[in-house]
Amino acid sequence: MSQHTPLPIVRSIAALRQVLAGWRDERQSIGLVPTMGALHDGHLALVTAAKQACDRAVATIFVNPKQFDRKDDLESYPRTEAEDALLLTEKKADLLFAPPASEVYPAGFSTNVSVSALADCLDGVHRPGHFDGVTTVVNKLLMQSLPDKAFFGEKDYQQLSIVKRMVADLDIPVEIVPVATVRQGDGLALSSRNKHLTAEQRLAAPLLYAALREVAERLAEQPDRPAEPLLAAGRHRLAQGGFAKVDYLELRAAEDLAPLVSATRPARIFGAAWLGNTRLIDNLAVEV
Ligand code: PAJ
Repeated sequence: MSQHTPLPIVRSIAALRQVLAGWRDERQSIGLVPTMGALHDGHLALVTAAKQACDRAVATIFVNPKQFDRKDDLESYPRTEAEDALLLTEKKADLLFAPPASEVYPAGFSTNVSVSALADCLDGVHRPGHFDGVTTVVNKLLMQSLPDKAFFGEKDYQQLSIVKRMVADLDIPVEIVPVATVRQGDGLALSSRNKHLTAEQRLAAPLLYAALREVAERLAEQPDRPAEPLLAAGRHRLAQGGFAKVDYLELRAAEDLAPLVSATRPARIFGAAWLGNTRLIDNLAVEV
């Protein structure tokens, strides 16, 4: 049983603004943690970081229809708000903003926020329109709450890079704070979509991280060696290990996601692959 007071939940932008204006009047700093719910320890690490860095931590839960490129993915996306609220209460979050779609996208909504270049590779190629949906909703959440800091996971490193770019380009006065990926003991990155995995798929799933690690370690030993043969071996290993399709396994620059031949500047390996109908993504730094 939780000993904490249940956290307040607001569903309208007006109510959100009212609570936050009160905190701002008291000179309290505000940390924002945007999520789509079905919270796990990865999301909760962002809440902990927000509590440590700011006086108030505000979580948002909104399953954003604009960022789903597949109808079945949107429809089957896990929705567990009551459990999520309990977890946020335990982590001492101060407020949950969980608006209905009509509040975020009222009739007549016609604006699209789009970041080019960074959004034109990796998931931007494989999930058309996805990042426009992300930047449009994150922009709205930032404007609605005007936080001091907003927290994003490195699990979605491309998303993090795109959000940082948007905030810089549009002069949004917020600090974007990255939080390291939280993994299970076998290496699998926590993800709300892991709930869709069958027992057999769950056993195969850590192979994605294992493949990233193998390449990262080899490149760390010898950064100027060509990455492609290692990446090709990794793709093959995933296919052999039960992944139906590998969307990509690539080496890219950590700073601007430019494709790299070898790890001669700060680099990360990015992977996306399918287990049945579930698409897993992960990424890892090459520590040189
Ligand atoms: P969602 O997938 O719910 O993730 C919310 C935040 O939690 C993101 O910043 C994501 O990178 C972070 N996160 C997820 N799994 C993590 C893990 N294992 N370790 C660390 N952080 C993790 O990302 C989204 O929602 C949406 O695109 C959103 C930004 C909310 C816009 O709709």
